[in-house]
Amino acid sequence: MTMPIRDKLIIFDTTLRDGEQSPGATMSAQDKLRIAKLLERMGVDVIEAGFAASSPGDFEAIAAIAQVVRNSTVCSLSRANPNDVELAGQAIAAAPRRRIHTFIATSPLHMEKKLKLPPEEVIAKAVEAIRVAKKYTDDIEFSCEDASRSDPEFLYRIIEAAIREGATTINIPDTVGYAVPAQFGEFVADLKAHVYNSDKVIWSVHCHNDLGLAVANSLAGVHLGGARQIECSINGLGERAGNCALEEVVMAVKTRNDFFKLGVDIDTRMLVRASKLVSSITGFPIQPNKAIVGSNAFAHASGIHQDGVLKARDTYEIMSAESVGWSQNKLVLGKLSGRSAFRQRVRELGIPTKSEEEINEAFARFKELADRKVEIFDEDIQSLFDARNVLPQDIYFVSLKQESETGKRPWAEIVYMDHGVERRGKAEGNGPVDATFNAIESCAKSGAELLLFSINALTQGTEAQGEVTVRLSIGGRIVNGSGADLDVLAASAKAYLDALNKLQVQTERFNPQIEGLSTP
Ligand code: KIV
Ligand code: ZN
Repeated sequence: MTMPIRDKLIIFDTTLRDGEQSPGATMSAQDKLRIAKLLERMGVDVIEAGFAASSPGDFEAIAAIAQVVRNSTVCSLSRANPNDVELAGQAIAAAPRRRIHTFIATSPLHMEKKLKLPPEEVIAKAVEAIRVAKKYTDDIEFSCEDASRSDPEFLYRIIEAAIREGATTINIPDTVGYAVPAQFGEFVADLKAHVYNSDKVIWSVHCHNDLGLAVANSLAGVHLGGARQIECSINGLGERAGNCALEEVVMAVKTRNDFFKLGVDIDTRMLVRASKLVSSITGFPIQPNKAIVGSNAFAHASGIHQDGVLKARDTYEIMSAESVGWSQNKLVLGKLSGRSAFRQRVRELGIPTKSEEEINEAFARFKELADRKVEIFDEDIQSLFDARNVLPQDIYFVSLKQESETGKRPWAEIVYMDHGVERRGKAEGNGPVDATFNAIESCAKSGAELLLFSINALTQGTEAQGEVTVRLSIGGRIVNGSGADLDVLAASAKAYLDALNKLQVQTERFNPQIEGLSTP
């Protein structure tokens, strides 16, 4: 029996902010925009697009997201000081729904050792930040950093002052992942009970995963503590061991609606897609046994389980694979499929297309792929619309020849376009991938350091397209590039060239007027 839904649970996604703080998970402004658009389509209520004062690049990415996202609230983080808040306010200005999220540490340890401020001054700073934020928006979130190790008596005072000043959401972070579920739930409940003006705001939780408890603590914060906003991220990406995983917490609340009785406006059929997008952009692979989005999450290996599922799916499945966006991996189209069958499948997959021309261009890419690959799966169709295949790039792949034979040193010969000029490079390497990258570098001479190389199959089977992510660094700037192809070496070359494009874009981006912004 389904129970009536009492309240809405606000899903606040911080993939682009806390997620990006994950070591190595750097994202370009264009990557962030792609993720933000998908989060909006998925129904995320609040998108924390970045931390405007952290860098001119982050400011720019937030501003770009604020210009295109219409339905979700766009939020920027800011420390509790007027300069940070002003930058956050400017970055989100174009968004119809906008939020400033300001925070200050409240634990004795952080106030004394990190901020070196007495508690009274910490309260004064929080209040001042909220006062400045009000110039830009009525939607203001205040977070007590390291709340779970703070003195509750002090939290009552600072939270009451924040609400009096105009904060509309109060967030209780377990910044270091120290809390355990029942205790954290009771902690939030205690705060709500003692803060005299607690009914004027939405209460929120933000849990880190250092003990692997982020999802459990967040759910306890909701169920026992009465929080009505959860801060989370796709694949649980975030500082250190990460944050509460959006896909897990959303499916927990939806699947156990009999228990939570809360409404969540997320289109869960997009979860796998969002997970794959974030994984390919960051180069962080998803472990096969990861709940919801891992490749084994719905695979039944033991004979007893398989037999049970064939007789009645719910013997061993508490939710369906389709409900979170796993397609049947069925053969949908092939070489002989026509334009209208292609268009229909694109619509069924919910891929947003702006014009007939866009479909025609993707159809041409589909035909090229179908010439080389017999079975075209949904993931292949989706990849035809990935920005790396759609947006014009200054540097792009043309062809690759390579030879590797056991006992001999491999070589590769690359042809690629660079701002309209054809480049050809040939080089040897310790392996075929090394030779391919050396061939590119023999022309590009970027001097980039390769930090990561990862490869994943887009679909099942040995005929699957390989999707490669490379992470390059030059002078402290780090970017990820990705490429997909049936030939994994061509995919590697495409990924490397994609990263070079981004490095160049970043270089240009850091030059102009934005450089003048004062960042702390
Ligand atoms: O973990 C944390 O405390 C944070 C705050 C800025 C909300 O990320
Ligand atoms: Zn955090």
